[in-house]
Amino acid sequence: MKNIVVLVSGGGTNLQRIIDCTASGEIPNAQVTLVVADRECFGLQRAANHGIPNMLIKRGQDFSANLAKVLPQVTDLIVLAGFLSILNREFCGSFSGKIINIHPALLPKFGGKGMWGHHVHEAVLEAGEKESGATVHFVTPGIDEGQIILQKPFEIADNETVESLAEKIHRIEHEILPVAINKVLKERVP
Ligand code: GAR
Repeated sequence: MKNIVVLVSGGGTNLQRIIDCTASGEIPNAQVTLVVADRECFGLQRAANHGIPNMLIKRGQDFSANLAKVLPQVTDLIVLAGFLSILNREFCGSFSGKIINIHPALLPKFGGKGMWGHHVHEAVLEAGEKESGATVHFVTPGIDEGQIILQKPFEIADNETVESLAEKIHRIEHEILPVAINKVLKERVP
C-alpha cells in the first residue's frame, strides 16, 4: 500500500477525488493516511466522513516544522490539494520529489505569491489569455516553480467569467490529479 498525505485549505473537491480514486482502484494500492488543514475548512469534514485521520495545524511560521512532527513515518506522497500555505525550504528539501501541488492555471504563467483560486482566474481574464487550464507539479521552495508533471489546457470562451473558469478548471483538475498521482507513485516510489 502506498501512503498519501493530503494538505487542504478549502472545500476539498480535489481531496474528495483522491479519496474516491483510492476507493475505486483508479489510484491502485494507495490510501490517504492523513489529511492536514492549515485553517478550518470543509476538507477536514470530508476526511472525517471517510474515517480518515485529520487535523488542523494553524498556519504561520511553524507550520512546516509542526507538519513534519505529525507525518506518518511511512509517507510516500504529499499532495497539496487546494492548500494555501507555503512549505519552507527545509521541509521541501526533506521530501524532495515526494510533494506535488495542483495549480489552477497553465504554469509557468500565473503562478507565484498571491496567485491562488479566484486571483488566478481574474488575472487570466484581465490578461486576455486565449487559454487556461490546470497544472500538477512538484513542490520546491520556489512558489509554483517545480517541475511540471501534467498539464491540460482548454480554450477560454468569449463570455467566460471567474466562476465559469473556476468550474471548468475544477473539472480538469479532477481529471489530471489522479493521473499525475499514479505517474509519480509509479515512477518515484519503489
Ligand atoms: C483548486 O482549484 C486548486 O487548483 C486551487 O484551489 C482550488 C481548491 O479546490 N489551488 C490554488 O490556487 C493553489 N495555488 P478544492 O478545495 O475544491 O480542491
